[in-house]
Amino acid sequence: MPVNLRGRSFLTLKDFSTKEILYLINLSKDLKSKYRAGIKGELLSDKNVVLIFDKPSTRTRCAFEMAASQEGAYVTYLTNSQMGKKESVEDTAEVLGRYYDGIEYRGFKQSLIEDLAIHSHVPVWNGLTDEFHPTQILADLLTIQEKIFKPYENIKVVFVGDARNNMGNSWMIGCAKLGMHFVGLGPKSLWPKPSLVKQMQEIAKDTGAKIEITSNIDKAVKDADIIYTDVWVSMGEEGKYAERIKLLKPYQVNMKMLKKARNKHIRFMHCLPSFHNLKTEVGRQIYKKFGLKELEVTDEVFRSHHSIVFDEAENRLHTIKAVMVATIGNI
Ligand code: CP
Ligand code: NVA
Repeated sequence: MPVNLRGRSFLTLKDFSTKEILYLINLSKDLKSKYRAGIKGELLSDKNVVLIFDKPSTRTRCAFEMAASQEGAYVTYLTNSQMGKKESVEDTAEVLGRYYDGIEYRGFKQSLIEDLAIHSHVPVWNGLTDEFHPTQILADLLTIQEKIFKPYENIKVVFVGDARNNMGNSWMIGCAKLGMHFVGLGPKSLWPKPSLVKQMQEIAKDTGAKIEITSNIDKAVKDADIIYTDVWVSMGEEGKYAERIKLLKPYQVNMKMLKKARNKHIRFMHCLPSFHNLKTEVGRQIYKKFGLKELEVTDEVFRSHHSIVFDEAENRLHTIKAVMVATIGNI
């Protein structure tokens, strides 16, 4: 059966089969080649999309806008909407579904985006919630294919730090679906929900994936192909810096950790934005209060030849385009 994602929402990778995820990665590759060849597309012409952001963004917003524009869609950027404040999610969804062919949402609760999808009757795309960040994983999986010349099934990914955040959860799902070896590494209080781990371990039985959660750095990073980290305090959790720094300082990604992998081709990945120097306002405030110049990753690792963080960022454009084209496009 050929893959057909027309009319589907993209809320979490849990909802997609291995074949469907690979289809989206391959479509991203084709769209990237087309873009690089300078071909202006029409795969989204006559389509209207609305991008709702209840949390800040650089990459996700710009990638959605550019991807839509490059394939001919009209975009409304919506922030500070009435939704959930003076109007129910259900009512807003009903209205937006009558104007638009697709809705992107970045915000807090996963249950909100699920309601949006139910009541708008058009595809809804998750641009990040507290629980999941699925478009980021697609970009990361494409980047891995371009940078690590091994099949997914032979790749070991170690997600270090706040292993229960949207990125940790989404990575675990992506690895389970693609038969990869996933290790969630961090302090026990920041491990993913046991129910999600169990669910992914069940999927792993079919795909050949291996899903492990541990606090043991040496064991986790040995033979890793990728060390991935994310901020220690996610959007919406501001105020938790003291607690997280105490818990996560031993899990900072530095050269010493990379060396423990004993793989000279080890790659460092991060969804960005990142605190790896003092060139941000928040970074400087943290330095003043806690005396740390770098948080989840050292500047040395971030800038090293191991780091492929900007390649990931670039691929957000092509993978987000693939999600829109596959679900509402003229294909
Ligand atoms: N990685 C990512 O989602 O970046 P933004 O927060 O800038 O969108
Ligand atoms: N975990 C981070 C991801 C940012 C792209 C956050 O939610 O803030």
